[in-house]
Amino acid sequence: MKQDSGLKKGWEQYPQKTVEMWDDFVNWNKRKEGEGDFFINMLKKYNVKTVLDMACGTGYDSIRLVKEGFKVKSCDGSQEMVKKSIKNAKKEGINLDVIQCDWRNLIDKFKKEQFDAIICLGNSFTHLFSEKDRESVVNQIYFLLNKGGVLIIDQRNYDYILSKGYKSKHKYVYCGETIDVDVIHKNDSLVRFKYTKKGNGYFTLDLYPIRINEMRALIRKAGFESLFTYGDFERTFDKNNTDFIQHIAVK
Ligand SMILES: C[S@@+](CC[C@H](N)C(=O)[O-])C[C@H]1O[C@@H](n2cnc3c(N)ncnc32)[C@H](O)[C@@H]1O
Repeated sequence: MKQDSGLKKGWEQYPQKTVEMWDDFVNWNKRKEGEGDFFINMLKKYNVKTVLDMACGTGYDSIRLVKEGFKVKSCDGSQEMVKKSIKNAKKEGINLDVIQCDWRNLIDKFKKEQFDAIICLGNSFTHLFSEKDRESVVNQIYFLLNKGGVLIIDQRNYDYILSKGYKSKHKYVYCGETIDVDVIHKNDSLVRFKYTKKGNGYFTLDLYPIRINEMRALIRKAGFESLFTYGDFERTFDKNNTDFIQHIAVK
């Protein structure tokens, strides 16, 4: 399969048509049920006050964290996602502090700021296809964090997807009942997901299947002092029975 440039596989994969289907795919109520207060408790544990939600998408995490009293800034590469997050926040009476930003320019966009936490959730980081970009973005995150600040990054369990195939408990992160998910192509450098809305079209996403230990090594290399990896929000987990991986790193 022909490989496009990294950029094409990033936020450019989120035109309006895809963004309009995104919340059906997430299902905000079920996502909240599945994750409970995991992220909120984690942020509180590290005494976090300021958060950058760097892949805000339609606003699920940003809105939740604003409601919990955190001072939140948000960004996303897709202008359509930015627009949708503002719209979703308005429905809740919240003015989201959100800008369009490609992560490769994170420091340029936020250079005068430091955060207690940066979150990159919903399997977002795996939109970066080049090692150089992945390293650069994690280094930029590190730079923007206060000493003692926390990076929370999640990913699909690609170790399992690559070795065995795609399966889902349908309980975590992407829980929508009206969207069917399939993996239609996979190799060590690309997984293509197809998301079919029952009776009404589909979209595809190309993602880089980063393995758990590759992500851990990348975070360590950036200089983070400690790193804890969870599976489906549990510290002890079975790699063969886990949908999503959460990494918590402290600067
Ligand atoms: C899988 S979605 C997740 C959105 C949201 N966090 C969620 O959980 O629903 C990935 C998001 O990352 C954004 N994204 C991908 N590559 C990006 C990049 N290079 N810079 C900024 N945003 C990017 C996309 O626009 C998209 O909104």
